[in-house]
Amino acid sequence: MEKLRAHFSVWLAKLVTKLAGITGWVWLVKLMRRLTGTQVTVEQMMAVRQAIKENSACKLLIFGVGNDSWFWMNSNSGGRTVFLEDDDFWLRKVKKRVAGIEAYLVDYDSKIEEWKEMIDKPELLEMKFPDEVANATWDVILVDAPTGWGEGTKGRMKSIYAGRKLVSESGHVFVHDCDREVEIAYCNALLKPENFVKEITAVDVGYLRHYKFQA
Ligand SMILES: C[S@@+](CC[C@H](N)C(=O)[O-])C[C@H]1O[C@@H](n2cnc3c(N)ncnc32)[C@H](O)[C@@H]1O
Repeated sequence: MEKLRAHFSVWLAKLVTKLAGITGWVWLVKLMRRLTGTQVTVEQMMAVRQAIKENSACKLLIFGVGNDSWFWMNSNSGGRTVFLEDDDFWLRKVKKRVAGIEAYLVDYDSKIEEWKEMIDKPELLEMKFPDEVANATWDVILVDAPTGWGEGTKGRMKSIYAGRKLVSESGHVFVHDCDREVEIAYCNALLKPENFVKEITAVDVGYLRHYKFQA
C-alpha cells in the first residue's frame, strides 16, 4: 500500500508538472511547486516562462537540473531546452526520472572563495562546454547552478560569465539567488545595470534577477 501511494505521488507530480508547463496556469504552477519541492517561486517561474513564450521556437539553456526540469521542457515544447549540471550523481538521477531530457555534465573547476580575484579576469572565467551548447546562442538562459551556498562550493562566477557569453543578441538572462554576495557582484559586473529589467524577491528562497540584452 505504501509503495502504491509513493508511485501515485510521483505519477501525480509528473502529470501536474507537465500540465503546468504546457498551460502556464498559475494555480497549476503553484500546485506543481508544492508537489515537487521546487525552490524557484511561482512568480519567478512565470517571469522566465513569459520570456520563453516571446520566442516561437525558443532556445533555452538552464544551469542546473532539478525538480523543475520537466516544467521547463514542457514550457518550451516548440523549442529546444538544454541543461548543464556539475553533480554527476544528481544528473544521473534526474536523467532517469525525466524522459528525453537533454542535459550535459560540466566541470566548473572553481572555488567560491576565489570570486574576488576572478571577477575582472575573463581568462579565469572561461570553461569548457559541449559543442551542442558552445556552438549556439540562447534566447533565454536561467542560471541556478552550481549551488554556491557557501564555503567549499564552486560558486556561480563561471555560470554567470557564460550566461553573458552565450545569450543571443536580444536574449534574456535570469540569475537565481541574487540575494547573495557573489551573484550580486557578478551580475553587476558582467550583466551590467543597463541591461537590468527587474528583481523578483522572495521570502524564504533566493531572489531572481532578470537581464535583457539589446541587438
Ligand atoms: C540550486 S538547485 C535549484 C534547482 C531548481 N532550479 C529548483 O529551483 O528547485 C540546483 C543545483 O542543486 C544541486 N542539487 C544536488 N542535489 C539536489 C537535489 N536533491 N535537489 C535539487 N538540487 C540538487 C544540483 O547540483 C543542481 O545543479
